[in-house]
Amino acid sequence: MSTQTPIRRTTVPQIASRKGGEPIVSLTSYHAHTAAIVDKYADFILVGDSLGMVMHGMESTVGVPLDLMIMHGKAVVRGTQKALIVVDMPFGTYEESPAVAFRNAAKIMKETGCGAVKLEGGARMAETIHFLVERGIPVMAHIGLTPQSSHVMGGFKTQGRDEAGWDAIINDAKAVAEAGAFSVVVEGVVEPLAVKITQECPIPTIGIGASKECDGQILVLEDMLGLNEWTPKFVKVYGDLGPAIERAVSEYADDVKSRAFPTDKEVYK
Ligand code: KIV
Repeated sequence: MSTQTPIRRTTVPQIASRKGGEPIVSLTSYHAHTAAIVDKYADFILVGDSLGMVMHGMESTVGVPLDLMIMHGKAVVRGTQKALIVVDMPFGTYEESPAVAFRNAAKIMKETGCGAVKLEGGARMAETIHFLVERGIPVMAHIGLTPQSSHVMGGFKTQGRDEAGWDAIINDAKAVAEAGAFSVVVEGVVEPLAVKITQECPIPTIGIGASKECDGQILVLEDMLGLNEWTPKFVKVYGDLGPAIERAVSEYADDVKSRAFPTDKEVYK
């Protein structure tokens, strides 16, 4: 019999209960090793479909296949013990009907072992969110700038610059909450709108390029680590990984070329 107390993962109700409380810490992660580090500090980890752009060099998230999300989702679940793991539903796997969404969300949950899924869209996805939640699938919603709709939006554009559009976005937040979403990512909206959404929406808002007043924050890990050549303006870059990796690789290349690379047999014992 084990004498160790098992580490319990953060649950969906625990995240939901943080509305207006201690800010929720979250980051994306796509692999077991980075997830293991993030796990020490994050309440939830998102296996975001941004992995298509960040890791696989795609131009947008539109081309991300379900199997890729599942593969990265499995890695992140394997690498973590504590955080709630949320996996993004990629474009084309949930919009068609609630039944299609259920089939794909259930596949993600069964094959990865994650605790919840995220999907993009506000009021238009409310029926689907309700359908999934009623059938045991916790849903995090995502409103404002929704990258999977970037072709319709004409690119990755900040939402709510024109106050005339605010009501629709606030309505999106309320609709997903009413449908049963346990929290909502609010991406790329002007600050006062993010504040208003946070005040009026009964579930935790997770901001990205929105406002520090949201109930929590999320960033793409590679952005905040300084690993990407281009980083959105709103991101505070906490790390120096891009230049650090480059320094290491160039030192290695120099060692190889100058035959300073260790070849002493002792090294290989
Ligand atoms: O795909 C992703 O990484 C996301 C976050 C930016 C919220 O949806």
